[in-house]
Amino acid sequence: MILLGVNIDHCATVRQARYRGYDQTAVGPVEPDPVALAVRAEQAGADGITIHLREDRRHIQEHDVWRLKDVAKTRINLEMACTPAMIDFALKVKPHSVCVVPESREEISTEGGLDVVARKSQVKACVEAMKAAGIITSLFIDADDRQIEVSAESGAEWIELHTGAWANAWYGAGRGAELAKLKAGAERAHAAGLVVNAGHGINYDNVGEICSLPHVHELNIGHTIISRALTTGIEEAVREMKRRMNG
Ligand code: PXP
Repeated sequence: MILLGVNIDHCATVRQARYRGYDQTAVGPVEPDPVALAVRAEQAGADGITIHLREDRRHIQEHDVWRLKDVAKTRINLEMACTPAMIDFALKVKPHSVCVVPESREEISTEGGLDVVARKSQVKACVEAMKAAGIITSLFIDADDRQIEVSAESGAEWIELHTGAWANAWYGAGRGAELAKLKAGAERAHAAGLVVNAGHGINYDNVGEICSLPHVHELNIGHTIISRALTTGIEEAVREMKRRMNG
């Protein structure tokens, strides 16, 4: 069984398009509420909720993370940049896991994952701080040998393979080569003792192929589920994704 982490960021994107600067707890229709959506996603079978508190606060706000913490029944996976401010915030919230992602150009490796090779000492310090607080660290990286090797050396328990290049190649040339890279990366990470997750650009059409990769523990999927929820409701969007993941 591959687990599904539902990323609710884009529900907040819609809210921010109208209600930037409004207080979610103010009287009035500050909608849609990503936390209410997360509760319903959990009820429909989501195994965890993923939420990215970006430094630019483009979608998710701090109060969303705290409100989610109060009501979540599954696991919270907090995506964040590797910065002192975000590390402090994560240590206060204490999610089940953090997924360290790049937010600025300099932190990004060739394909788009976090460049843990270039940022080895900061990543290691982040992993150590999380470990001391009982929080699992996942590193969002490309399926690149060196990135995987350094991720394992950092002490991180999990990685999330960046599936964006493969997703972009889905309708064009190069998809087979991208899939082969992900397969080799999953094998290598598993052999290095890392739990292997995957995410970015996965949708209802392509999810089956990602589920054919070896050793995949969890997929983090956002945009396609939130998009489908607009027409079917979040419950059906989650159930259909789980059907496609596990047959
Ligand atoms: N995993 C990570 C680390 C991400 O940054 C994102 C995008 O926010 C996702 C998964 C989900 O990607 P998508 O919205 O394309 O499903």
